[in-house]
Amino acid sequence: MLVLGIETSCDETGVALYDGARGLLGHALHSQVELHADYGGVVPELASRDHVRRLLPLTRGLLERAGCRLDELTAIAYTEGPGLAGALLVGAATAHGLARALGIPAIGVHHLEAHLLSPLLSRPAPSFPFVALLVSGGHTQLMHVTGVGEYGLLGETLDDAAGEAFDKTAKLLGLGYPGGPALARLAASGKAGRFTLPRPMIASGSLDFSFSGLKTAVLTVVKERALDAAARADLAAEIEAAIVDVLSAKALAAMEHTGMKQLVVAGGVGANLSLRSRLTAGARKRGVEVFYPEVEYCTDNGAMIAFAAAKRLEFDPRSATRESRDASGAFTVRPRWDLETLATAG
Ligand code: KG4
Ligand code: ZN
Repeated sequence: MLVLGIETSCDETGVALYDGARGLLGHALHSQVELHADYGGVVPELASRDHVRRLLPLTRGLLERAGCRLDELTAIAYTEGPGLAGALLVGAATAHGLARALGIPAIGVHHLEAHLLSPLLSRPAPSFPFVALLVSGGHTQLMHVTGVGEYGLLGETLDDAAGEAFDKTAKLLGLGYPGGPALARLAASGKAGRFTLPRPMIASGSLDFSFSGLKTAVLTVVKERALDAAARADLAAEIEAAIVDVLSAKALAAMEHTGMKQLVVAGGVGANLSLRSRLTAGARKRGVEVFYPEVEYCTDNGAMIAFAAAKRLEFDPRSATRESRDASGAFTVRPRWDLETLATAG
């Protein structure tokens, strides 16, 4: 089984080759960070156009480096959703076009399922069952994962995602896009505690999250105080501490709630080092093992798309080859797509 994976849901063009027997044969990524930097966030139309420009050359280079030919592929996987509609369409059209020409299936992959399974690409890898903390720019969820395609929602954000909280508060501090890594860098030179920010819903007793109040609290500080460089760093440190406090408290509560002993952290915010050290320390005390994908697989990438499709082909071939077409026979993308519906999508 040789799967080409294509990721174009947002601002990274990612491609990868996953072989059922040999594992990941290679992956390539083009980040659009510079393209969107001047705008302070992703401009959907620019993102789509850049995917169009990058996707085929990136794929050609990947095949060449891996010493593979297109006619050796058994399937082409692409991100079907959730994400930006135009950006998703570029990956979907390319995948369906190539697959049609080669006479092989095009497999639509759920972006969050791919994030969820991405820790299985790293070594050591977790084994089923586990709890996953999915923390990306668009989602914050705690999932109970018992197998490929078997995902139960334990809790999720009621408003902003954790990545969004990083990005929006970073913007309030005048930091560039993407805000998460920029805020984390500034936080490293500051000290939490000088400012007091809320830890929303930390003691709510539920496994749900809320981050919009944090953004409002930061806006109040920024408006009311003149912040010098040291104060900005201290505020960044407090923002990071507030988000990390909530994420780690809820993740550890989920471990207690389920009695699971393996916690998997996936999605872009999983690259945050403060979150990693906090979770690892808290988990150790409870006899819980924490797994992180390598940072390059934490943020959006093609490897997780190829891998998720390969796992579906292995465990659930029927759902893997389910073609996403509308009534007229045209393929579709799903800009909004609830992960929980996957299990029953068949
Ligand atoms: O999973 P991802 O690459 O894309 C989505 O599917 O959303 O996640 C991107 C998010 C952004 O909000 C970004 O600011 C955040 O992950 N992020 C971080 C760090 N690296 C990326 N947030 C905090 N600390 C980081 N080191
Ligand atoms: Zn993502």
